[in-house]
Amino acid sequence: MKRLGIIGAMDEEVHILKGMMQDVSVETIASMEFNKGLFHGKEIVVVRSGIGKVNAAICTQILVDRYHVDAVVNTGVAGSLRNEIDIADIVLSTDAQQHDMDATGFGYDLGIIPRMERSVFEADRALLELAQSVCAEVIPEVGVHTGRVISGDQFISDGKKKEELVSNFDAYCTEMEGAAIAQTAYLNNLPFLIIRAISDKADHSAEMTYSEFEEIAIKNTVKLLSEFIKRI
Ligand code: ADE
Repeated sequence: MKRLGIIGAMDEEVHILKGMMQDVSVETIASMEFNKGLFHGKEIVVVRSGIGKVNAAICTQILVDRYHVDAVVNTGVAGSLRNEIDIADIVLSTDAQQHDMDATGFGYDLGIIPRMERSVFEADRALLELAQSVCAEVIPEVGVHTGRVISGDQFISDGKKKEELVSNFDAYCTEMEGAAIAQTAYLNNLPFLIIRAISDKADHSAEMTYSEFEEIAIKNTVKLLSEFIKRI
């Protein structure tokens, strides 16, 4: 791997990684700050895409076209869709799908993109296995789950909507960017992985305040990413 793109959702996380890089050059494209540099001798580009699928897809395509990255990793937070997945746990993606792609009126199942040969985009096996072993070593106290990530331009904070997602998709967590990054990666034949820390239960039952949680999430993801990048 020559160059890794990292799309981080949290400002602080991107800031910490940037502070650990050498020879950083910064370029703003499409209102997004791309930080290119070296991390333990590895070339990386760290960027915060902003929220939602459009931002995420644009950001990924820029990483492909302008930075020629060989793979992309997306980190951030997500809402849990399973009882056994707790706040502060981590979900690593097997694959990703858009839950708000709705052409049902046209005869397609929910989540299916008309006229595309696939709508579920598979994460890179080698990146996934590397993340699994790094998690086990550097954050053994954290619950780590591997499964489907679903994304939509919706913050899910309603029990009824959550139940719909649970019954329509066999997913582990929901967020707002991963499937767009996955689809863009697929279209460009680029390996990808989504790494998400659980910030809430997608139904307003989160027991930890967001600011309390954010600190833990950033600490864990930075720890995980540092070792992950070293070994890539
Ligand atoms: N990101 C973190 N929690 C989320 C939720 N409940 N819905 C969508 N995106 C999220």
